[in-house]
Amino acid sequence: MGKKSTTASKVSLPSALAYSASASLIAATQAEAVTNEITQAVNPVISGLADAGNGLPLAVGSAAAIAGLAFLLATTDPEKRRTDMATEAGGDEMKSVKDYFNTVGFERWEKIYGETEEVNKVQLDIRTGHAKTVSKVINWLKEDGELSKGITVCDAGCGTGSLSIPLALEGASINASDISSAMAGEAEKRCQAALEAAGTTPAVAPKFEANDLESISGKYHTVTCLDVMIHYPQDKADAMITHLASLADDRLIISFAPKTLAYSILKRIGELFPGPSKATRAYLHYEEDVEKALNAAGWKVCRREMTATSFYFSRLLEAKRA
Ligand SMILES: C[S@@+](CC[C@H](N)C(=O)[O-])C[C@H]1O[C@@H](n2cnc3c(N)ncnc32)[C@H](O)[C@@H]1O
Repeated sequence: MGKKSTTASKVSLPSALAYSASASLIAATQAEAVTNEITQAVNPVISGLADAGNGLPLAVGSAAAIAGLAFLLATTDPEKRRTDMATEAGGDEMKSVKDYFNTVGFERWEKIYGETEEVNKVQLDIRTGHAKTVSKVINWLKEDGELSKGITVCDAGCGTGSLSIPLALEGASINASDISSAMAGEAEKRCQAALEAAGTTPAVAPKFEANDLESISGKYHTVTCLDVMIHYPQDKADAMITHLASLADDRLIISFAPKTLAYSILKRIGELFPGPSKATRAYLHYEEDVEKALNAAGWKVCRREMTATSFYFSRLLEAKRA
């Protein structure tokens, strides 16, 4: 990884890249900055592709070639693909996300968020990046010494429980939910297994349920929502932030794919190669937009982290009441 290829390479794009590289978007403004950022952004992708195997011819090499690729990316229309996907789900975007995470998305992500070796290099990279985000959250909560006090945590869009489970093991009272019943069910199964393996019985049994985050009710000490907003455009993300903020008493922790030039390029590259799962539904968010939504809800960002591996990019914010 990281080596520049100087010749045309025959490579295939792992399907996960369509999703993970979709952790990006762009508003190209200045030509010089564009070239620099593109070079930095594309190199690891190209290296990753070159590692991937056979299939798709892709000529790469000089910065000029990369800039050409950038032009191609800038002139494609990812919005059309998103619209097509939503149309297939009867125009209901949330339903198409739910359907994805109950079917092919579940199969893919339960592997990425698991321990199986049946993952390709891109998926392994995403697993590594995501684990870093999770451990940053756990470290924040541990630093503050709150977990062992049995604080209530609402983990919205819990996936397979990558965050909920370690928090339950640390003594938090977990209310986890996911729009996908397959994901929530898997999280519950993994949590039971982890608690049994640790020989721990939490004071309050962790709860896992299939529910979209907009429908969550109640009040919780801490609300977490990791890597969920990538599935929604900014207006929906704003509404989600407002709702999540209304559920939290003390702290809100969210992560999202940041909208920068480099990540936008990566996203466009992913979108050029839609996998069979049509996993290109992904939106990047400007950090200032996310922060604006938090501020409007009466919250102030107090800690920030960024996790970036070759294919996983996630900005992590912790907010408290202003
Ligand atoms: C990329 S995964 C992240 C899972 C988990 N937060 C983690 O970091 O391990 C995104 C998850 O968000 C869920 N999701 C998407 N839209 C949702 C919504 N509107 N409400 C609740 N969950 C949602 C998906 O089903 C999927 O499990």
